[in-house]
Amino acid sequence: MKGVEALKRMAAERAVDYVRDGMVVGLGTGSTVYYALLKLGERVREGLDIVGIPTSRRTEEIARQRGIKLGDINDYPEIDLTIDGADEVDSNLNLIKGGGGALLREKIVAHATSFEIIIVDERKLSEVLGSFPLPVEIVPYGWRRTMKVLASHGCTPSLRMNGGSPYLTDNGNYIVDCAFGRIEDPAGLEEKLLRVPGVVEVGLFVGMCDLLIIGKDGGVEEVRRS
Ligand code: 5RP
Repeated sequence: MKGVEALKRMAAERAVDYVRDGMVVGLGTGSTVYYALLKLGERVREGLDIVGIPTSRRTEEIARQRGIKLGDINDYPEIDLTIDGADEVDSNLNLIKGGGGALLREKIVAHATSFEIIIVDERKLSEVLGSFPLPVEIVPYGWRRTMKVLASHGCTPSLRMNGGSPYLTDNGNYIVDCAFGRIEDPAGLEEKLLRVPGVVEVGLFVGMCDLLIIGKDGGVEEVRRS
């Protein structure tokens, strides 16, 4: 049986096969995307010419170390292809993202992208979303009250911490991890939560994944959005 890191790597390397010369490529965040950055770095050294749009400072740093040319989304508002990870994927290719805290930039980049590839190992698959607590990015102002309002929508919210202080996103905001249990209507929940004052973005990505690449013990599986 393969270890989880091998499964992540398999999915990530398959995704990099979709990258072509001249593309603007969104670079997601997380431990699965890390393997895609390694592979992209190798291909860049072999002559691949792309511009990467990073979704976090962490990704920016790794990509830079690997020699991947980077751009700003303001200069490249149309992204050809993005490779990103996910915390949970349902049978309709809806996602929970934000475990790594980069959901806001990831969603902006996904929205600007023509072809969104999501790479996961098979542990991330669920029939219905909700096993992974839903990350919600909120502004620090009034965070206690925002958490109360989130709780009134049916979850147990927990402020993400980093040591003794609230975890801060690259945008200077907080993350609340919201345990909802089964999320039967991801689009409806996303819409409701986005209306809560103080909420900046919600880690539900509905209808945004064009191709899911799964690293499985038996090999790599690709699932396209129907
Ligand atoms: C970061 C994310 C990541 O894509 C998600 O957390 C998956 O990360 P990993 O590949 O490390 O499991 O949404 O905000």
